[in-house]
Amino acid sequence: MDYKGYFDREIERRNTGSIKWDRYKDKDIIPLWVADMDFASPPAVIEALQQHAAHGVFGYTHAPEELLEIIIHRLQKLYNWAIARDWLVWLPGLVSGLNVVCRTAGDDGDAALTNTPIYPPFLSAPGLSRRKLVTADLCKVNNRWEMDFDILNNAVTPETRLFLFCNPHNPTGRIYTKAELQQVATFCEQHDLVICSDEIHCDLLLDADKRHIPLASLDEAIAQRTITLMAPSKTYNMPGLGCAFAIIPNAYLRTKFRRVMEGIVPYINALGYTAAQAAYRDGGPWLEALLAYLAGNRDLLQERVAALPGITMTPVQATYLAWLDVHDLGLENPAAFFETQGLGFSDGAEFGAPGFLRLNFGCPRSLLTEALNRLEKAVGAIK
Ligand SMILES: Cc1ncc(COP(=O)(O)O)c(C=O)c1O
Repeated sequence: MDYKGYFDREIERRNTGSIKWDRYKDKDIIPLWVADMDFASPPAVIEALQQHAAHGVFGYTHAPEELLEIIIHRLQKLYNWAIARDWLVWLPGLVSGLNVVCRTAGDDGDAALTNTPIYPPFLSAPGLSRRKLVTADLCKVNNRWEMDFDILNNAVTPETRLFLFCNPHNPTGRIYTKAELQQVATFCEQHDLVICSDEIHCDLLLDADKRHIPLASLDEAIAQRTITLMAPSKTYNMPGLGCAFAIIPNAYLRTKFRRVMEGIVPYINALGYTAAQAAYRDGGPWLEALLAYLAGNRDLLQERVAALPGITMTPVQATYLAWLDVHDLGLENPAAFFETQGLGFSDGAEFGAPGFLRLNFGCPRSLLTEALNRLEKAVGAIK
């Protein structure tokens, strides 16, 4: 199928129960916040769901054999990572996964470490799980966000049991290099930490010369202390279908993880499995076209933001999220200000970084262009 025009379609999402669009239901504010895209999923996913719906029975469902095979084969092919089928633990979402991981590593009163800025549930999961939160800021070096291992080493306390890691990183859009991942592995081994590697954005790579490396694929030692979280939800734009998985090579961690889930985390819904299977099996050409489209949006955004005084952004290597530094605009509450200008960003404060805004550019170029026109006008009006 030719995807020309597929991503340019403006699909009406108002009054469809969309969290993203309902926030500004009766207001002229373009929603550029929560991480879902305004695109239709791959046609193969839509067809598979239609077929499933036509069958008409929606009973309790386990993961289809074919889906397991597809995932195992995919990880082998993409990353040369051989996983055993019993390492897979199904989850209704990655946020539940983050919270289950927090309760799996260590005991009540222990601490979990993460880098800031970070996707907000990383900041809330430890507290919700009776763990302390410890943070270490990322640093901007040569226009690139990086981990600083001196800061990380200093942040570790005797109670720290877990490192909550995100790669590709939300919100900075970084794809960590193999050398950086090796540093993460060494750091976690030195401090005897379990690592939760959230790799939900691993398929959304916008630079053709970069590749994703699952942290656990580095070597056996790091695999034994890593809980990897993945899902087709961001890639194929179906987070509302709730289907994700953890990969846990270590038997002790896996057993504990499953025990924490027991009786609390529900089965995956039947349609989620159907969609995941169709997406991974048949969504390749759609994904290729999506990535080209997103890269075009990213380039447009970068070019337009570069021309604005008071706003900077680092190159977005992956994801459809841009991390804007607006400190120099001198605004007291940037997110609230831009809402008055018709732009609904995510507030950096929620990511542990006030003075930043996160912009979701997973939308038709026409909408992004309109948003950029509003941004230019708004910045121009600031005294
Ligand atoms: C890094 C990261 N983890 C997890 C999630 C959410 O996962 P889920 O919707 O499966 O709970 C997101 C959504 O934006 C994310 O960016």
